[in-house]
Amino acid sequence: MISKKYSTLFLLAFALPVVAGAQVRGIHLSWNGTSSSTTATTMAITWMSDAKGYETVCYGTDSTKLDKKLIAKEGYSADMKTYLLKATLTRLKPDTCYYYRIGDGRDGSSKIYSFKTAGKTGSNAAFTVGVWSDTQDNKGNLSFEQTDSIVAKLAAYPLHFTLHTGDIVENGSVQRSWNNFFGTAQPLNARFPFMSVTGNHDVINDRQADRFQKPFPVYYDLFNLPNDQLNYSYDYGNTHFVAINSGYAKGAEKDSLVHFKPGSPEYKWLEKDLAKARRSKYIRWIVLYCHYPMYAYGVSQVEQWQQHITPLLDKFEVDLCISGHRHVYERHQAVKAGIPTGIKDRHIYDQPAGTVYITNGSAGGSLQGTGGKDLPTMIFTPSEKIYTYGIMAISPYEIRIDVYEKTGRKIDYFTIRKGKK
Ligand SMILES: [Fe+2]
Repeated sequence: MISKKYSTLFLLAFALPVVAGAQVRGIHLSWNGTSSSTTATTMAITWMSDAKGYETVCYGTDSTKLDKKLIAKEGYSADMKTYLLKATLTRLKPDTCYYYRIGDGRDGSSKIYSFKTAGKTGSNAAFTVGVWSDTQDNKGNLSFEQTDSIVAKLAAYPLHFTLHTGDIVENGSVQRSWNNFFGTAQPLNARFPFMSVTGNHDVINDRQADRFQKPFPVYYDLFNLPNDQLNYSYDYGNTHFVAINSGYAKGAEKDSLVHFKPGSPEYKWLEKDLAKARRSKYIRWIVLYCHYPMYAYGVSQVEQWQQHITPLLDKFEVDLCISGHRHVYERHQAVKAGIPTGIKDRHIYDQPAGTVYITNGSAGGSLQGTGGKDLPTMIFTPSEKIYTYGIMAISPYEIRIDVYEKTGRKIDYFTIRKGKK
């Protein structure tokens, strides 16, 4: 006999919007390796299953002949009576399209999805990244209905992966929310690696808790990211991406527990990582992303967070910093040593002397108002409350981001130019 608590969870699990008869759900791609060739030669696949027998990934370069097989590592969530499966495909060919299916083809197997591996490290081929954040299931998005629209918009682009800057769910301890999120996002995440960072809603934000600012245990069941899954980096072509956990910076500030304090192990890791990337002959751009913004209007500005991180971004000439948390879109001037560097064209950062900062935190969570325009760094923020997503195109001499509201209307765009004009 199962307890009342477990029986409730059990019923909720089966109330999820799954295709009739399907056993496999919540499929999402990611990278989890730490070598420079990770994105070119590997792909991690994570999924859930209501029944045993769906642990096989069938894959290949011909959609009619999935002639390779890999058996996933399988776990089990007693709370949800759900199997949790993880597989990592290795020795893939760079810049190659692969097809895969979860399950051996029996009823309940997934449909066939495809993904493309990255070019070799240092490749200057252009690529496209979806940028989204704060999909949390709170008021107005209780069933991820706003997020569902954003997913559909993003999935229409020829992306190579997506960056999600945290607050994926409203409460990281509620597995039903994770189930619903990964169900909603599957049309996107099963095709493009989902490279997310944790937000304050995804981690334990009780300052009295032993694991304050660490994820709930379920996070480790559901994600398969590099390093410790909280602070990690990877190369894609000529760009180095760094994802860092900003924890619950606002609450942590009161006790001086804000992450990346100079001298801390995480600070040393970041310093070493950025230094290596900036030294590399293969890396042209560095993009860092995190949940709490470095520059923000209002209460989302956490001085200690800015003070800890921005000197490293200055030192290693990080080109772009993308954040979420505040459910608005804000774009700032390039900044160095706390000083805005100025801009001649409001849409073009031409050979900027500092890091460009944006916040793009409204892919579903309840809209919180508008950004303030009186910040010295601010270039643009919408005057209305809107849900947004971004499309980032990276080419050898330019990073371009186009930002859209949920309807598909473009609200902003900008380019960062470096090198050849
Ligand atoms: Fe947040």
